[in-house]
Amino acid sequence: MAKFEPVLSKNFDKPNAHKLSVYKSGGGYAAAEKVIKEMAPDDVVERVKESGLRGRGGAGFPCGVKWTFLPADRETTYLCVNADESEPGTFCNRFLMENDPHQLLEGILIAGHATRTTVAYIYMRVEFHEQFHILQKALDEAYDAGLFGKNIFGTDFSMECYIHRGAGAYVCGEETGLIESLEGKRGWPRIKPPFPAIEGAFSKPTVVNNVETLCCLPHIFERGVDWFQSLGTENSKGPKLYTISGPVKRPGCYEAPLGITCRELIFGDDFGQGMRDGLGVKGCIPGGLSVGVLTEEELDCVLDFDDVRNYGLLGLGTAGAIVIPDNADIRQVLMNVARFYSHESCGQCTQCREGTNWAYKVASRIARGAGRISDLDLMVDITTNMGMMPGLSICGLPDGAAFPMRTIVQKFRAEFEDHIRRQPPGVVEETLRKTNAAIYELPILGRA
Ligand SMILES: Cc1cc2nc3c(=O)[nH]c(=O)nc-3n(C[C@H](O)[C@H](O)[C@H](O)COP(=O)(O)O)c2cc1C
Ligand code: SF4
Repeated sequence: MAKFEPVLSKNFDKPNAHKLSVYKSGGGYAAAEKVIKEMAPDDVVERVKESGLRGRGGAGFPCGVKWTFLPADRETTYLCVNADESEPGTFCNRFLMENDPHQLLEGILIAGHATRTTVAYIYMRVEFHEQFHILQKALDEAYDAGLFGKNIFGTDFSMECYIHRGAGAYVCGEETGLIESLEGKRGWPRIKPPFPAIEGAFSKPTVVNNVETLCCLPHIFERGVDWFQSLGTENSKGPKLYTISGPVKRPGCYEAPLGITCRELIFGDDFGQGMRDGLGVKGCIPGGLSVGVLTEEELDCVLDFDDVRNYGLLGLGTAGAIVIPDNADIRQVLMNVARFYSHESCGQCTQCREGTNWAYKVASRIARGAGRISDLDLMVDITTNMGMMPGLSICGLPDGAAFPMRTIVQKFRAEFEDHIRRQPPGVVEETLRKTNAAIYELPILGRA
């Protein structure tokens, strides 16, 4: 098989890759120029549909299909670029923005033309200070060169682009939470329908796309749909930026065709290069925290949009792998996961607000050595009944909370039971007595 040639990350090591002149010297903006000058918007949408590009923000929704949901008779369209990247263990959007900001801007131009966007908003989490300055400079340069604003490439296509900085909340990565926050309101997800394509930002038809999804567009139009389809697996096409963190020898962000295995990502020479300090792998959460856990025996799971489901995972997510070493206390892992979601639930929906807090309370007492065997069943019960899938919540946060918690308890049940059986007598009652008060005194670690 021919060696894979990276495209999304090809400029990452180039000096001054953030400068317009450097980006253009490598052929940058040629795809956008060709698309805007020579292709009708609907043809661009068709081509993206044909390519099989699926959203890289977590849900994997087909990008071109999403664009077709916009009403045909619209006058105004907004494009919201989701640069919130709030999923724990995920940092590929950050790499794209700091190392190759013009690639994203070119993707925005192509998506903007396809969807007849009038204004694009790049919604960026506030913690991305450096990335904000890099991207803003790149955008200023692009404006000065006439790439944004009126009559782009001398055509009648005009589009403005602004960077909007969020205040930092996981739920503002959810597309309607993002839109509320962009409008200057509290970042609470909206009840759907109406979906953003019909009524989104400022009540106008809106497309929300992830940074990496948009970065794929210039390559689809430069290299062709066939090239894009030649990469990946049956329903998962194109290149993907995988990230890996935890005690591996080479944590980082690596590009590969969609469909490498989790084992390759951890141990492959081109990726994590194995564990450091003689550690083994207890498990891996392979798609950002929200997808659930794989055990060591399950590491041959293919990281595409399909195979992950054979292992009881929610989906591919963001393909940001968090490796759990064999010396980690699984009770602490569970408690950290539970704490994150109970802190990030926005509180609108009862079963999410109460469920994530209840799960944290139970996980916390297990971690403090006061767990009962029945708590393990309780964790499974709570996490099975609090998500959007059972039809109870406004957004997907509680599903993202449920999958890691439930799979950790189910797949490591023997280890939990072993800890619980070895707890000294009396400690359960004593700790339970203290737990209810102490739980709220635990420090909030914030986002991972
Ligand atoms: C709680 C929650 C947090 C999310 N955070 C992000 C995020 O940080 N970045 C992102 O692109 N999508 C995030 N999403 C998914 C978005 O709602 C949306 O599906 C995505 O931005 C669409 O872009 P895509 O189709 O290009 O993937 C989140 C979803 C949920 C439920
Ligand atoms: S499901 Fe949770 S995070 Fe989403 S809107 Fe409801 S309370 Fe907020």
